[in-house]
Amino acid sequence: MDECEKQPLLLRDEPPPRQRDTDGGSYPWKFVLGLMGLFALLSWHHAMHSDSFERHNRKDDDGGYCRTYAGEHIEWKACGQIGPDHRELECSSIDVPMDQFNATNSGSKTFGIPLIRMRAKGASRDDTATQNMLLNPGGPGGSGLEFMYRRGVQLSTIVGEDKFHLLSFDPRGINQSQPLASCYPTPEARRELSSDVRNKKIVEDSGELWAWTANFVQACADTMGEHGKYINTPQTAADMNSILDAVGQEDMVYWGFSYGTLLGQTYATLFPERSKRVIIDGVANQFDWYESPLDLEEMADTDSVFWGFLDECIKAGPGNCTLAPLANTTQELFDKVVTFVEEMRDDPLSVYVNNTVYGVLDYWAVWYNGIFPALYKPANWYTLASNLASMLQGNATDAFLAYGRDAAWDIPSDAENVVSLNDGASGPQHWPEQQDRKSLVDKLVPHFNQSLFGASEYDHYFAKRAWAIPKTHGYVPRRGVQTAHPLLILSTTYDPVCPLISARSANAAFGGSRLVEVKGYGHCSLAVASMCIVRHVRTFLYEGKLPDGNTQCEVDGPYFIKPEEGSKTVSTVQFVDQEEQRIHLAQLELARDLWFKPW
Ligand SMILES: *[C@@H]1O[C@H](CO)[C@@H](O)[C@H](O)[C@H]1NC(C)=O
Ligand SMILES: *[C@@H]1O[C@H](CO)[C@@H](O)[C@H](O)[C@H]1NC(C)=O
Ligand SMILES: *[C@@H]1O[C@H](CO)[C@@H](O)[C@H](O)[C@H]1NC(C)=O
Ligand SMILES: *[C@@H]1O[C@H](CO)[C@@H](O)[C@H](O)[C@H]1NC(C)=O
Ligand SMILES: *[C@@H]1O[C@H](CO)[C@@H](O)[C@H](O)[C@H]1NC(C)=O
Ligand SMILES: *[C@@H]1O[C@H](CO)[C@@H](O)[C@H](O)[C@H]1NC(C)=O
Ligand SMILES: *[C@@H]1O[C@H](CO)[C@@H](O)[C@H](O)[C@H]1NC(C)=O
Repeated sequence: MDECEKQPLLLRDEPPPRQRDTDGGSYPWKFVLGLMGLFALLSWHHAMHSDSFERHNRKDDDGGYCRTYAGEHIEWKACGQIGPDHRELECSSIDVPMDQFNATNSGSKTFGIPLIRMRAKGASRDDTATQNMLLNPGGPGGSGLEFMYRRGVQLSTIVGEDKFHLLSFDPRGINQSQPLASCYPTPEARRELSSDVRNKKIVEDSGELWAWTANFVQACADTMGEHGKYINTPQTAADMNSILDAVGQEDMVYWGFSYGTLLGQTYATLFPERSKRVIIDGVANQFDWYESPLDLEEMADTDSVFWGFLDECIKAGPGNCTLAPLANTTQELFDKVVTFVEEMRDDPLSVYVNNTVYGVLDYWAVWYNGIFPALYKPANWYTLASNLASMLQGNATDAFLAYGRDAAWDIPSDAENVVSLNDGASGPQHWPEQQDRKSLVDKLVPHFNQSLFGASEYDHYFAKRAWAIPKTHGYVPRRGVQTAHPLLILSTTYDPVCPLISARSANAAFGGSRLVEVKGYGHCSLAVASMCIVRHVRTFLYEGKLPDGNTQCEVDGPYFIKPEEGSKTVSTVQFVDQEEQRIHLAQLELARDLWFKPW
C-alpha cells in the first residue's frame, strides 16, 4: 500500500469557490501581509492545475512520489512547482492535540495542520544540516499554504535559496486545517445570516448591530463546538513545536509578519529555550492584544501613512502623481480629498459604464476598499492617486471599477474574529461598564475618532464585547523575556496597522533584541524594497549577529512609480553584484503584492 495513503490528501482538484457576499461577521483582516484577491486565487488555481501537479497527481496513483527525509517523522507529497526555476513544493500534514496544554481536555480530539515546504536548493534527502524556517503570513486567518504558493519564490531569494527550507502551514482553524474556525455551518447560511456593516452609522445604526451580534457570537460558539475554545494563538505557538518535532528540528527559525509577530512573540515567551532565530516583522503590541479590551496602539500611525501618501505625491510632482496638480501643499490636498470623500457619505456617485456594469460608488468603498488597503503597500499609490484624481475631477469610472464592485477585504472566513477574540479580553466580563448598547457606543466613538480609518473596527468590537466562547488559555505576555538567541525586530517608520511604537514595545520586552527600522511607509518591511534590510536579515540568520544597537535602513527607490515601469525603475542605490540585483527585484515583487485587483 502507498505509504502516503495514511496522510490526508491535502490538495483538492478545485479550490473551493470564493464567496462574494458582504459579511458583517468578519471584519477586515487588519494584520495580514499583502493579501489575496484575484491574484492569489489565480496563482493558487494555477498551482493546483499546473502540468507538473497533474503529472505528479497521476504518479501518486501508483504510489510514486511519497517522500521521506533523514531525521524526519512525516511523509511528503509533491504539490506543485512555482517560479521561473520551477521550485518544487511538497505538502504534508500533522495532527495536533486539540488542547496542546492539557491532554485530559484533548482526549483523542485533534486539529489537522497542513504543511507546505520548499526545500533549499541542492539539499539532498539525507541532508540534516539545513534547517527549516517557519513562516506565518499574518491575519489571523492567513493561509501559510497560499502564502508559499504566492510568495515562496521571492522569500526564498531573500533568505538565500540554498540556506533554508521554507516551511509554512495553515494554523489550526484556518483554511485547509480541520476543523475550521467558522461561525456559519454552510456558505448558504453565511449569505443569509451575516450582516452588512458597509456604510453603517456608528451611533444611529448601533441598535441593529447590537441585536445581530448577540446571535452571531452564539452561532460562532455553536458552529465550532468544543474545538472552538482551543483556536487561539498560544495553541498555535505550541503547534509550531509539533511541526518542528515532526521534522526532527530542535531550534525554532521563524519569520512572522504582522499577526505573525503576535505568534512569534507568544512563541518566544512560551518557549524561549527553542527560540534560536526569531524574526518579527510589522509588529503588533501583544500586551494590548491579550489584555486590553480596546487595542490602544494599532491605528497610531494610520493617518500618518495617509498623510505620507499625499505628501510623497506632492513631492513626486505632476509628472509622477496625477493628484499633485490638484493642490500646492499637502494640507490643501488632504482637505480636498477628505472633503470630497466625506461628501460621498450623503451623496454617493452614480457610475454608468454600460448596461451590465454600473452602480453606486460610496464613501465606504473609496475609504475602506480603496484608500485603506493601499496604505499597506506604497506600490499601489500611483494607481490610487490616479483613480482619486479622476474621481475628484468628475470621472469616477476607474475608482468604481477598482473599489466599487467587489469588497477587497471580504474574505469568507471567521478566523480573524475567532482567533483574536479567543486570545484577548473578550466577553461581557471584560467590559463591565459596557453592559448596554449606549455605554458601548460611548466608549467606542472616541476610540474610533483617533483615526480617519477607526470605524473599520466597528463590528469587531461589538463582537468582542459580546463574545460567548470562554477564554481557555492562560498565556500572559511578559517583559524581560530571555530567549536562547535575541529576536530581530523589523518595522517601517509608518505602518498603517502595526505602528513603530508596538515594535519598540516588543524590543523592550525581549532581552537583547534589536529593532531595525526601514525609514518608509507601509505594512511590514516587505512593503518596500531595502537591501539594507536583507543584509540585516541574512547576517542574523546566517551568523546570528544583530546590530550593536537599534538601527535604521533606507528605502531603495521612489514611492510613485508607474506600475508598468515598476521593475525597470532604477533604484536609488548601487548594488554590488547580480545577486543583489535579483534580490532587489524579488523585493519589488513582494512590495507590489496587490491588495486589490490590478486593473
Ligand atoms: C486539565 O483539564 C482537566 C479537565 O478539564 C482539569 O480537571 C485539569 O485540572 C486540567 N489540568 C491542568 C494541568 O490544567
Ligand atoms: C484556502 O485558501 C485558498 C487560497 O487562498 C482559497 O482559495 C480557499 O478558499 C481557502 N479555503 C478555505 C477552506 O478557506
Ligand atoms: C518622476 O520621478 C523621477 C524620480 O523619482 C524623476 O526622475 C522624473 O523626472 C519624474 N518625472 C516627472 C515627469 O516629473
Ligand atoms: C498653486 O499656486 C499657484 C501660484 O500661487 C496658483 O496659480 C495655483 O492656482 C495654485 N494651484 C492650486 C491647485 O491651488
Ligand atoms: C461593459 O463594461 C465592462 C467593463 O468595462 C466590459 O467588460 C463589458 O464587456 C461591457 N459589456 C458590454 C455589454 O459592453
Ligand atoms: C472616464 O474614465 C474612463 C476610464 O478611464 C474612460 O473610459 C471614459 O471615457 C471617461 N469618461 C469621460 C466622460 O471622460
Ligand atoms: C467623533 O467624530 C465625529 C465626526 O467624525 C464628531 O461628530 C464627534 O463629535 C466626534 N466625537 C468625539 C467624542 O470626539
